[in-house]
Amino acid sequence: MTRMVRHDAKGPAIIKVGDKMIGVCQCGLSKSKPFCDGSHKQAHDEKAGLVYIYDAEGKRITLDDLFPTPKEAFEA
Ligand code: FES
Repeated sequence: MTRMVRHDAKGPAIIKVGDKMIGVCQCGLSKSKPFCDGSHKQAHDEKAGLVYIYDAEGKRITLDDLFPTPKEAFEA
């Protein structure tokens, strides 16, 4: 089963548990959820207006790479 989930955050939520600070993944890329493992660094250069798709190995493409839109459709 595959599920697409939208994540916009590029870093963790930091919460205090007792006397420890813990990073909780908000980017969706951590391999040790719910904890941040630093994988969010892959998202730092994402550009506004694009939708990124990451595979299990961390490789990414954009939705436009999958379904290119002919320029003519927006130039009329
Ligand atoms: S916020 Fe997701 S890995 Fe850090």
